[in-house]
Amino acid sequence: MYVCVSVCVCVCVCTVTGTLALSVFTAVLGSLQFGYNIGVINAPQKIIEADYNATWVHRYGEPISSRTLTTLWSLSVAIFSVGGMMSSFTVGVVSEWLGRRKAMLINNMFAFIGGGLMGMAKLCRSFEMMILGRFVIGAYCGLASGLVPMYVGEIAPTSLRGALGTLHQLAIVTGILIAQILGLESLLGSEDLWPVLVGVTVLPTVLQMGLLPFCPESPRFLYIIRCQEHHAKSGLRRLTGRQEVGDMLAEMKEEKRRMDMERKVSIPELFRSTMYRQPIAIAILLQLSQQLSGINAIFYYSTSIFQKAGVQSPVYATIGAGVVNCAFTVVSLFLVERMGRRTLHMLGLSGMCGCAVVMTVALSLLDSVPWMSYISMLAIFGFVAFFEVGPGPIPWFFVAELFSQGPRPAAMAVAGFANWTANFIIGFGFQYVAELCGPYVFLIFAALLLFFLVFTFFRVPETRGKTFDQISSGFGHASPDIMDMELDKPSTELDYLGAEGSLN
Ligand code: GLC
Repeated sequence: MYVCVSVCVCVCVCTVTGTLALSVFTAVLGSLQFGYNIGVINAPQKIIEADYNATWVHRYGEPISSRTLTTLWSLSVAIFSVGGMMSSFTVGVVSEWLGRRKAMLINNMFAFIGGGLMGMAKLCRSFEMMILGRFVIGAYCGLASGLVPMYVGEIAPTSLRGALGTLHQLAIVTGILIAQILGLESLLGSEDLWPVLVGVTVLPTVLQMGLLPFCPESPRFLYIIRCQEHHAKSGLRRLTGRQEVGDMLAEMKEEKRRMDMERKVSIPELFRSTMYRQPIAIAILLQLSQQLSGINAIFYYSTSIFQKAGVQSPVYATIGAGVVNCAFTVVSLFLVERMGRRTLHMLGLSGMCGCAVVMTVALSLLDSVPWMSYISMLAIFGFVAFFEVGPGPIPWFFVAELFSQGPRPAAMAVAGFANWTANFIIGFGFQYVAELCGPYVFLIFAALLLFFLVFTFFRVPETRGKTFDQISSGFGHASPDIMDMELDKPSTELDYLGAEGSLN
């Protein structure tokens, strides 16, 4: 293990230049906000609900009914995903039109508007403003969830694409944890300060806006889409710290040559063409496996889940889940280039499935065996840990890997839309289904996890160490059964972008 880690670190040290580090850091500030807004709604639920009630009393002279309150709260949680769903669908168009970097820059506008609306909601006695703010910040996060992995995947060297891709998820989980900690009643999660808690989401926005001008635009985008060889070259030089970048351009040239032979790929075409049908099905199912695993039932509602499980300090247990979440994302960061995407994804899904079963048993025995509350807490921690080993980080960057430059934006839009739709279904429906099924609610997730595990085993190829072109041509030339592909054999090249030839 020690040897593995040091080899990995050594590769990183050799390849990561200051510009690459700065660009990845700047991009993932968007992911940090994404995570912050997932986590921020959890701990202060009761306090914000009390304010909704106060507004109701102020307007109608009577307390809000518990049914209306549940609906307003579920809406405040889940409308975030509706914003994400709608904007993620535009990722393809926006990223081609403005470029990856400018799109990230302009997206920040949504963060200002969303943060502003939420931050002012209490002052204006308006839960509508809070709900609208959640929608707008969701729209920001939907775009960020497509733009960040796309940009990072395109600027990363092939040998580090998985590890750098995992940083998107690491920033998300860090955002969740920061929100959980700041959400403590003794910090910002109090009756007076919760507007600050939801409003501080604009701070990373300001930082990102300050740093983006120093980051190069994706050279792949500049060269393959905009045909700006000169600018692409200078971006590559900055990102790699090398003067001689002909080999990298050669690899892009090959991808461009293939792309020029194809027609422009629209979203309907992704489903019509036999060449793309399989990778898009894989992309969608991987995203569904991430969301329908039930992870956001934990991240949106863990405080009340822990409460029902008889855990004494539910808010601290929620923070515990956040810490486990971060720790295991780091584990995945180190493993993903060694063990491969497919293996880690399967390991994560099977572990989550086991933990969901344990959780169900523990919750159903809770009344007769009090110490089962500890088992259910451990099962939740295990569930989160296994999620971060594979299903958390991998689907985000895997989609960018499955497609070459031509179909990538459309594919990212479809995959993002699938992810956010499933996120919405869980965010909105979980409370209702949980009421209906009681302690057995996690069995539904266990069954879904089992299905996704079988799917991954039979259908998902390994992409580690392959260039984008190798991956997509694997699909293009494959027989209908994608498992015939040669993709599971890692290529030997380890250099930046995995170029195999030279320019001339
Ligand atoms: C992933 C999911 C997100 C979830 C998070 C938890 O990023 O996309 O919905 O909340 O992981 O760590």
